[in-house]
Amino acid sequence: MNSSDFYKNKVVLITGASMGIGKDLALQVLQYGGKVTITGRNEQRLLAVKDEFQAYSEQLLIHKGNVANYENVVELIEKIILHFGKLDVLINNAGMSTIFGDLETITDKVVDEIIDTNVKGALFPSMVAIPKLKETKGSIIFISSIAAFQGIPAYSLYSLSKMALTALAQSLRIENKKTGVFVGIAYVGFTENDTGKRTLSPDGKLEKVPVRNKLITRPRSLTAKIILNQIANRRPRAYHSIFGKLIFILSKFTPFVTNILYKQIYKNTKNTRDSK
Ligand SMILES: NC(=O)c1ccc[n+]([C@@H]2O[C@H](COP(=O)([O-])OP(=O)(O)OC[C@H]3O[C@@H](n4cnc5c(N)ncnc54)[C@H](OP(=O)(O)O)[C@@H]3O)[C@@H](O)[C@H]2O)c1
Repeated sequence: MNSSDFYKNKVVLITGASMGIGKDLALQVLQYGGKVTITGRNEQRLLAVKDEFQAYSEQLLIHKGNVANYENVVELIEKIILHFGKLDVLINNAGMSTIFGDLETITDKVVDEIIDTNVKGALFPSMVAIPKLKETKGSIIFISSIAAFQGIPAYSLYSLSKMALTALAQSLRIENKKTGVFVGIAYVGFTENDTGKRTLSPDGKLEKVPVRNKLITRPRSLTAKIILNQIANRRPRAYHSIFGKLIFILSKFTPFVTNILYKQIYKNTKNTRDSK
């Protein structure tokens, strides 16, 4: 189905949408005529998006809150129902990534932050939204990564948090077979980073993300378009980019090949970092 037909008058919740992929998702749904709620912890950033999307003010709701906080999430869903009267689509997009670091160098605070945002931050909105989505026979989508196919050395925490979403999507898909709720997962590949994006260092500092090589990154608008199209067409899984598909096939059928590749990347990156 065409996204422009699907999203017209649909009520869509996008977690973590004050910047990055989430913000592009929000803009496209608004342009298709949907009603959008965006969330984030930083109110200034949410207000800046509200300003930028002024042309769609009737269709847009912002909510300051942490997706890893159950009470915040309950309040968020209640607010959407009060404001728009229903919920059709939940996009579990909020996520936090880490910088290269062996597990023993990572602090317990960083573990909490990643597990809270990437795992609880998708679990809680899903738990609370499912009864509302059953009423509309709506959709839930989890925004995962190619890091979910096979554990990436020095990114173990991020990998495991995204692998957890595969388990969650698999369980929910079966639980909702007869409810009419669609459950999907998007394995997003390297996407152009927002200039405001920060990532967690092993000791918990928020650091600016280095600019990625344009040859291996996708524009955020394209990543967002593919995600929205996946939901509109109820495709359970989407593997973004040729590289993503290749890693998926290698990890599934010849994991030793991915192992060799990851070992080499790990060795090279470690050597470069140690020599600095
Ligand atoms: N960019 C990529 O190349 C790539 C590749 C694969 C997968 N992904 C996944 O795609 C999703 C979006 O990535 P992105 O690069 O667009 O991220 P981003 O630019 O860092 O944006 C993350 C958004 O999530 C919000 N957020 C973070 N923690 C939150 C929390 N606990 N509660 C509520 N909101 C929270 C942030 O706002 P506040 O900080 O104000 O809360 C921000 O709006 C993530 O799940 C990521 O893992 C990205």
